[in-house]
Amino acid sequence: MSDNVVMTAMNYAADRPKAANPVKIMDLSLRDGHQSLFATRGRTEDMIPVAEMMDEVGFWALETWGGATFDTMHRFLNEDPWERLRTLKRYAKKTPFSMLLRAQNLVGYRNYADDVATAFVDRAAENGMDIFRTFDALNDYRNFETVVKQIKKSGKHFQGCMCYTMTEPRMGGDVYSLDYYVGKAKELVDMGADSICIKDMAGMIAPYDVYEMVKALKAAVTIPIHLHSHFTSGMASMSQLKAIEAGVDILDTCMTPYAYRTSHPAIEPLVMTLLGTNRDTGFDIRKLAEINEVLEKQVMPKYKHLLDDSKVSIIDINVLLHQTPGGMLSNLVGQLREMDALDRIDEVYKELPRVRKELGQIPLVTPTSQIVGVQTVNNVLHDTPEERYKMITGQVKDLCYGLYGKTAVPIDPEVQKKALKGYPRGEEPIFCRPAEVLAPELEKAKAEIGDLAADMDDLLIYAQFPVTGKKFLEWKYGRAEVPASVKPITMEFVKKQDELVKKAKAGELVERKSDVPEKSERVRTFNVFIDNEHFSVDVDPTGDAPVVAAAPRVAVAAAPAPAPVAAAPKAATSAPAAAPAPAAAAEAHGTRLLAPMPGMVIKYLKNVGDAVTKGEAVVVLEAMKMENALVAPCDGTVKEMKFKSGDTVPKGAVLCVIG
Ligand code: CO
Repeated sequence: MSDNVVMTAMNYAADRPKAANPVKIMDLSLRDGHQSLFATRGRTEDMIPVAEMMDEVGFWALETWGGATFDTMHRFLNEDPWERLRTLKRYAKKTPFSMLLRAQNLVGYRNYADDVATAFVDRAAENGMDIFRTFDALNDYRNFETVVKQIKKSGKHFQGCMCYTMTEPRMGGDVYSLDYYVGKAKELVDMGADSICIKDMAGMIAPYDVYEMVKALKAAVTIPIHLHSHFTSGMASMSQLKAIEAGVDILDTCMTPYAYRTSHPAIEPLVMTLLGTNRDTGFDIRKLAEINEVLEKQVMPKYKHLLDDSKVSIIDINVLLHQTPGGMLSNLVGQLREMDALDRIDEVYKELPRVRKELGQIPLVTPTSQIVGVQTVNNVLHDTPEERYKMITGQVKDLCYGLYGKTAVPIDPEVQKKALKGYPRGEEPIFCRPAEVLAPELEKAKAEIGDLAADMDDLLIYAQFPVTGKKFLEWKYGRAEVPASVKPITMEFVKKQDELVKKAKAGELVERKSDVPEKSERVRTFNVFIDNEHFSVDVDPTGDAPVVAAAPRVAVAAAPAPAPVAAAPKAATSAPAAAPAPAAAAEAHGTRLLAPMPGMVIKYLKNVGDAVTKGEAVVVLEAMKMENALVAPCDGTVKEMKFKSGDTVPKGAVLCVIG
């Protein structure tokens, strides 16, 4: 045991003598916990039963907001993110709230203009946020300037993050060395940080590395040091203990049902570990057990279908093998599966470090993990031996332009040149603070959304999420039917599900109707796990819910088509067909632009009747949150556009026909 951890008389009771230097704890269950384990699907109604109890524990803070919650709530849960903040604040009045802020990316996926950033922080503070844990995916702190100004103006706590990443199996190497992190910490102090967070989003920080780092940071700066480490690789509990020995001030944990796997170590074992030492948390472990009881019985049954039970192991050693964040890997696997290309995962593993290096050896965290991940998959699936980077996402182009900030090492000049060819802002990259080239956005957003945004909070939803935010506001104000897929499930529903599983186990689920009804758009898919077997069960309520014409519909494309069919197919030797054949079925006489991946149509850049040339961008498709400009496969005129902005399309959907 290290010198600074001294055992005193052990006393289990909550009123045991206060430790000399208690470790402070932030609980992450209500944000990163369910974000990590349940795809951020936690609903406010399921947080209320424990909010008051958690307020009594003595946490340094409760993380309740930010990160993916804002996006997921309005997109998948039909919940107003601002309302959650206000509601939880009514139940947990004493403990400060913390949010994860992606600096100039706010809670979205790109850098927003300064007016949006300032307004967002102002509104978050007004709605009850106390601590702004701020990070930038590139660790470029120029992206902190605008939000920090407002955090300070609002009189709130500015916690500056250093995103922990590496290029070697352990800390070190040319880029992300101990000196790098100490330098970053000093930059944060100079910016007025109230505390510093080592943000180990991938669970890659090794116990002895964190020991060395915390020691060095404590020697270099005087503000509190906070460790955020995911359990993904299995090291986090050990890293926490070594960080305590090195003098860390604050740690992040979760309540047990929200802990481990890709989430964080649980609080209860830590309380017991430190009991009676001079770093004793002082927490009453029985109080924690009561909270767990409520979560286990009243809350978790509604979410267990979201838990990834496909593996027995609770840790992911791929993180140790590939130095790649766990969440990013599962995204890559999901993306490959959707494209029927899961067999190419090894190529992805090989291509990923190469793409990362070419894009400036950037840390892998939202949004850069998606940017690097999606581009890697694009390269593996679409590149040819003669040409790399055949399909470059809009976000990679923005990165190459400098719109995300300064990369750790320069971007590969060839990749950069190719990405910026025809880039609308210019073909020469910028080197200034990215937001300096962004025109104000709020007025424009206000003009677009009109009175559908009743106040600034609504407007900020729309400004960050123009397509899904607008849909949400239509639901919120009753201008569109709320689809069943975003409605909460009840405990009764869960019980029925469990009975079905029981029946299935007993072999009683053999009846099958001969006339299978068509699936409606209210169908919801559940993963059912019976022993080691996985069943995907579609549940379609048979009630008489009315269908309103204005309801956002999930577009169903015609059966997935094969590769684009050239007009009037002929033998390869003949000259390219010039005259279009007489009109019959329109599609047979044009070239179809197919969705190369499942995704959401962001916008069409052309209208029916417009002339296009081969290679010209026609439609922007969002897949895995990255925008892909899809180009015309041939010269011609746009004859048909099959979808509209906001439609979800499967792989192979005919996006338009060019004839
Ligand atoms: Co995290």
